[in-house]
Amino acid sequence: MSQTTSRQPALLSIVLAAGKGTRMRSKRAKVLHEVGGRSMLGHVCAVAQTIGSDRIAVVVGPDMDDVRAEAMAHVPGAEVFVQSQQNGTADAVLAAREAIQSHDGDVLVLYADTPLLTAATLRALRGVLDEGAAVGVLGFTADDPTGYGRLVMEGGRLLAIREDKDASAAERTICLCNSGVVAFRHPDLAQLLGGIGNDNANGEYYLTDAVTLARAEGGEARAVVCDEEEVLGVNTRVQLAEAEALFQRRAREKAMLAGATMIAPETVWLSYDTQLGVDVVIEPNVFFGPGAVVEDGAEIKANCHIEQARVGAGARIGPFARLRPGADLGPDVHIGNFVEVKNVVMEQGARANHLAYLGDGRVGAKANIGAGTIFCNYDGFFKHRTEIGKGAFVGSNSALVAPVKIGDGAYVGSGSVITKDVEADALALERSEQRQRSGWAAKFREMMVRRKAKA
Ligand code: UD1
Ligand code: MG
Repeated sequence: MSQTTSRQPALLSIVLAAGKGTRMRSKRAKVLHEVGGRSMLGHVCAVAQTIGSDRIAVVVGPDMDDVRAEAMAHVPGAEVFVQSQQNGTADAVLAAREAIQSHDGDVLVLYADTPLLTAATLRALRGVLDEGAAVGVLGFTADDPTGYGRLVMEGGRLLAIREDKDASAAERTICLCNSGVVAFRHPDLAQLLGGIGNDNANGEYYLTDAVTLARAEGGEARAVVCDEEEVLGVNTRVQLAEAEALFQRRAREKAMLAGATMIAPETVWLSYDTQLGVDVVIEPNVFFGPGAVVEDGAEIKANCHIEQARVGAGARIGPFARLRPGADLGPDVHIGNFVEVKNVVMEQGARANHLAYLGDGRVGAKANIGAGTIFCNYDGFFKHRTEIGKGAFVGSNSALVAPVKIGDGAYVGSGSVITKDVEADALALERSEQRQRSGWAAKFREMMVRRKAKA
């Protein structure tokens, strides 16, 4: 986990992921659904890491081994706790009691279904603790506050959070709402939260009651306000799509401000880790799955699908190309229309301009792969490699049956089925010899014209 600044106390982030999310109508836990190619839980863990959490605890429900595994995949040192019954948000936080009690410093509570939270906002929230507050609550102004807890304020201080069901008519008119993100600096947080009761409309232990309890002890509570969009909580697939749209808008803007041109940004789909260099040009309808890197000056023409692949500087891809995991394209490589590349290193200036499948191998610098070339990499049981030497020329419609090597500078005649290695600078030709019968076509036509006239 990343460093904290020396002036600040240590930070424990607790991510609540116990909710089943039944309204997703899914066999998968809600927080495993993805935004920008990464689970919502992954997004929240990532932002917790970015702000320098020293420890990250994740609270899951019973039978959520998949959620536990996802948390461990993102944060190898994550401490996972099980909340056996959903008795409310305070109860959920207290499921991580062990972590809280063994921690000396700030505690931040996050929900795993709010994937758009930014590090800047969380740092601002923690800032109010540095200024002396015991509790910091992240709020937002809701267009429609119905259903949210309301922040009851007085002179810049937060007095209480009133849950919708428990609010008076006057309190219901408040539009400043609780996002759910809360930060604490308290000498004995477990004891404070243990004092929360469940005497409310839901009969639940509300984390939000910590505000009143902290104030009763003489502590101060403050609110920090962020955009409603940033704390969008996902409960349905409709909201999942809204979160995706917001994520994409942000990611595109970031990429463009960093020097990539997008002709129609609204049609370009990025993943959380897509890296686009300076002067990269992306034409319309391009989809980037996770793990894509496009280096400076490369051009991605319309309708390409790219994932776990690198596009070297100045390379030209597409239109209609597919780069699959392990496609590693060096500088100035050209990949044209209807070319699929998987697990192949293509060295500088190598080309496959039309209609080809290149799977499992290496294409040497400046080699040219003709239209219709197939690397026959799979025998039904195992995958095998194809190695093409530097400057080699593979004629159109060739099938290279792996494992096979084509030497540097060699030629493969069009239409060949190559099953044996070809030495450097040789010509390999594997097709029957061409025969010719002079005048045959003319005679044939004459005969057929006569036959047709009779019929
Ligand atoms: C909560 C807040 C409310 C806020 C709203 C923002 C409380 C009491 N209320 O209300 O002020 O405006 O979020 O969306 O905190 N969870 C558990 N275990 C539980 C209960 C909840 O893990 O026993 C998790 C849920 O999975 C969810 C989160 O905590 O991720 C919030 O719980 P939820 O029941 O959705 O609270 P809200 O009623 O939305
Ligand atoms: Mg909720």
